[in-house]
Amino acid sequence: MSDLPRPPVRGLPVPDRPAMAGFEPDLTVDPNLVNLDDYERAAAERIPAGPLAYFTGGALDERTLRDNRAAFDRRRMIPRVMTDVAEVDTGVELLGRRWPTPIWIAPTALQRMAHPDGELATARAAAARGITVTLSSSASTDMGDIAEAGGPRWYQVYLLADPGARRAMVERAVSLGYEALVMTVDLQRLGRRERDIRVGFRIPEGVGLPNIARAAGVGDEQAADVAFVSRLTWDDLEWVAGFGLPVVVKGILHPDDARLAVAHGAAAIDVSNHGGRQLDGAIASLDALPAVLEAVAGRVPVLMDGGVRRGTDALIALALGATAVGIGRPVIWGLAVDGEAGVGRVLDIITGELEQAMALAGVSSVTELNTIRVV
Ligand SMILES: Cc1cc2nc3c(=O)[nH]c(=O)nc-3n(C[C@H](O)[C@H](O)[C@H](O)COP(=O)(O)O)c2cc1C
Repeated sequence: MSDLPRPPVRGLPVPDRPAMAGFEPDLTVDPNLVNLDDYERAAAERIPAGPLAYFTGGALDERTLRDNRAAFDRRRMIPRVMTDVAEVDTGVELLGRRWPTPIWIAPTALQRMAHPDGELATARAAAARGITVTLSSSASTDMGDIAEAGGPRWYQVYLLADPGARRAMVERAVSLGYEALVMTVDLQRLGRRERDIRVGFRIPEGVGLPNIARAAGVGDEQAADVAFVSRLTWDDLEWVAGFGLPVVVKGILHPDDARLAVAHGAAAIDVSNHGGRQLDGAIASLDALPAVLEAVAGRVPVLMDGGVRRGTDALIALALGATAVGIGRPVIWGLAVDGEAGVGRVLDIITGELEQAMALAGVSSVTELNTIRVV
């Protein structure tokens, strides 16, 4: 391309990429691991039956689990053209930090069942990319080790029944530099996940819940029996907000709850149905998003998670008004396939797809997302 004559017309942009760029095979990519669904298939061959049921499954008939994906399949974008997308900036401002991409890692429990390095591998892959990782209260890695990975991190809070243990867990996350507390509000009880029942899933020997064990002052063997509060109300959100970190309320689907969350101190809302693992028949996250956005009316950022598997999915949610989108299971698939490197590839694939989708939609920064339409 470079030795072809340049167009003589002044003022016209000169293309500086080869005419057929994008058609050469990318030999750095494993042809069996091109996208996130490939990672899911590959992971299913590596994870033992019990943990695989736990990671994959949803509640009851898995209607909500399936609908999280189907909701994206139902949507289409109306892109823009002629907007100069030579440089696309996927960066976004959220809770006082500049994010390189509006994609975050949603909390998933017990990652050491997918790979011995578990949450630490996830945190390292995220840190290397400046991507925010959320550590679950039910993580199988100590929150101090995740802090040492040094990247942007949020801590997901399940409130322990014992008041001293409850406080100890949150205080430790605050002292370890977690930047926000993600309060999950859709686990009043554990959803009934029939895949787990059928395979007789048990947490394997050697995989513990160190953050719960430490806060409750019990050994690893007893940690799975430590109780969460059975009565969760908006007062509890105010209690969590009292620690001074921004609180992201995770698991909002109803617009009235979004209003209540803001009124009780939420710094952000995460529209989520827990990956279809709690109330089966609940609305898909993407379908719940517009009404929540309307109710919140810009007072706090609105995030979503559930069923995001493509950069184009992320773009649809962002174009509808989400500030950022979370991914849950795909991180576990990356972890199972190749530890930290696998998580890194999963993140690179989806963030790369988003960057490309923005260019093809004629959007060079997140501030222009409102110029495209989603139908
Ligand atoms: C195996 C697994 C474990 C999860 N553990 C937690 C958890 O400990 N805390 C929490 O708030 N959400 C948890 N979630 C829900 C995720 O944060 C997220 O809402 C969901 O996975 C997003 O959907 P996706 O998997 O389709 O991306 C879990 C989800 C999965 C699949």
